Amino acid sequence: MGKPHLLQIGSVSPPMAARFEAEWQVTRLNDVPEAERDAFLAAHGEKFIAIVTSGSIGLPPAIMEALPNLGAVASYSVGYDSIDAKAAAARGIMVSNTPDVLNDDVADTAVMLWLALRRELIVADRWARSGAWAAQGSLRLARSVRADRVGLVGLGRIGQTIAQRVEAFGAPISYHARHPRDVSYDYFPDLTEMAAACDTLIVITPGGAATRHLVGAPVLDALGPDGVLINVARGSVVDEVALVGALQSGRLGAAGLDVFEDEPHIPDALKDMENVVLTPHIGSATHQTRAAMGELVCDNLSRYLAEGQLVTPVAETAHLPARGRQSQD
Ligand code: NAP
Ligand code: 8YV
Repeated sequence: MGKPHLLQIGSVSPPMAARFEAEWQVTRLNDVPEAERDAFLAAHGEKFIAIVTSGSIGLPPAIMEALPNLGAVASYSVGYDSIDAKAAAARGIMVSNTPDVLNDDVADTAVMLWLALRRELIVADRWARSGAWAAQGSLRLARSVRADRVGLVGLGRIGQTIAQRVEAFGAPISYHARHPRDVSYDYFPDLTEMAAACDTLIVITPGGAATRHLVGAPVLDALGPDGVLINVARGSVVDEVALVGALQSGRLGAAGLDVFEDEPHIPDALKDMENVVLTPHIGSATHQTRAAMGELVCDNLSRYLAEGQLVTPVAETAHLPARGRQSQD
């Protein structure tokens, strides 16, 4: 018998491709012209037992529908808001993500944005390069990060990793989530109350319907004119229109954004502001972390073949029983 069929949505790294080729017969959806994809899936959907995808592409419902024998979906991301995991579970389809291996780099990105804003790194760089230093003298004073009361919106794997770093800078920490944790930081069940008691908010919850616009005008107003908002979660968690309005009117001090509501598009208003630092969704984008994420994706699919189970299933599908060996020797 031939190797089992894997549908690849989006691109993968060369080491991932090599591992897939060893175990699977891989079909790259990108190789099928866009106009022919529906017909292709209608004709061949039956043969695929697994999908590899990414956080940005996720799993379009029409593709899940077109694959009656789909058993596993492995995503090259920890966030899986672009996959309807409940619908997958209802059909007995297991979904995996890439938890923990990216905690450090995403936490570093959050701290990088925090330091860049409070110590005005981009402004200082421009001052040095433009000759303003020689022409106008020293740059204005900035604000020490240890004077910042930092509120974490989400204290999961990445949130706790950010907290360890923030603690090392000597800044006091509080957090908001739906449930308190056994930690020494102050817990705020009400996000607006936490924003009023903080100088910097760092957003690191999952995306999706439950957190959509969790950070809106009331939270931004509570954070105030000296406040900093950092979002390394998903663009959907912050009301971008409200954010632009708060920054333009001076009701919010500054923002550091790695994620946006309509990626890869960023509102021009944000690009024009000196008190905003923008990065193009680079939280996990290092060679080391992307390699580790790729390995974990491959490990999940290998285990699915060998044991009918995943290594890191998402919570919604973790209860599904093993399907038995899937490889066809
Ligand atoms: P995690 O371990 O599941 O932690 C999620 C945290 O958010 C938990 O503290 C959870 O606490 C809280 N939370 C969930 N729903 C909430 C809600 N409705 N209201 C308030 N708090 C809520 O996830 P993680 O591994 O830390 O990853 C977090 C997210 O980071 C990912 O889902 C992804 O979207 C994002 N991310 C971004 C990048 C990037 O490149 N920028 C990279 C990786 C991940 P409770 O359950 O108690 O509410
Ligand atoms: C990735 C991410 O950039 O893991 C996540 O949830 O947002 C990032 O690590 C992205 O999703 C790649 O697929």
